[in-house]
Amino acid sequence: MKNAPVNNQPISVKLDIPTGEFTPCMELDPRKVSHLSKMFSDKAAIEEIIRSGDRLVYEIRYYPFITDHSDMALGTTVIFPGTVGGEYYMTKGHFHERNDQPEVYHCVQGEGVLQLMTRQGEYVAVKWEPGTISHIPPQFAHRVVNTGSVPLVFVAVFHVAAGHDYALIEERGFKYMILEKNGQPTEVLNPRWS
Ligand code: PA5
Ligand code: NI
Repeated sequence: MKNAPVNNQPISVKLDIPTGEFTPCMELDPRKVSHLSKMFSDKAAIEEIIRSGDRLVYEIRYYPFITDHSDMALGTTVIFPGTVGGEYYMTKGHFHERNDQPEVYHCVQGEGVLQLMTRQGEYVAVKWEPGTISHIPPQFAHRVVNTGSVPLVFVAVFHVAAGHDYALIEERGFKYMILEKNGQPTEVLNPRWS
């Protein structure tokens, strides 16, 4: 997230639910298959997609609310429907850099799974539908997987100081992968954790 100017006044933005766009918006961050090459498991499928021009997996929009006292951020994420080698489109997933920082996610469109995991491998999967609001406690990595056929849109609220730490997820992934098998989402143990 880039630096935003200090503004001590109340700010409201307007969310367009079907697209996840909100106005005004400070920053747009597109993530393609090439940005997730360490996240998806099928390396041949990743290479083929990148060779044929890459594909957009999700978009993040941010509004950092910076004041002279404490700073929060609003983010919306739109994960498009699709798979890479049978693995559903998903966010990279991360821990917060600061171990005292929680977050709230609110699913407003689509269906999917919120995966949560500690560094010790404690794993929780939450089925998502529009209206689900999830608290992510400090020290739980979090990733959202779109298992449906429409764009999955969710709102995130967190402290700007939380920070994003992708290192362990890049190295080992989440404990379970969510793959499409006979048209159904299926949890499969990730070999990098076994
Ligand atoms: O801060 C958050 O947790 C979200 O805004 C995420 O950054 C966003 O959903 C994209 O996920 P990731 O940062 O894991 O790529
Ligand atoms: Ni987060």
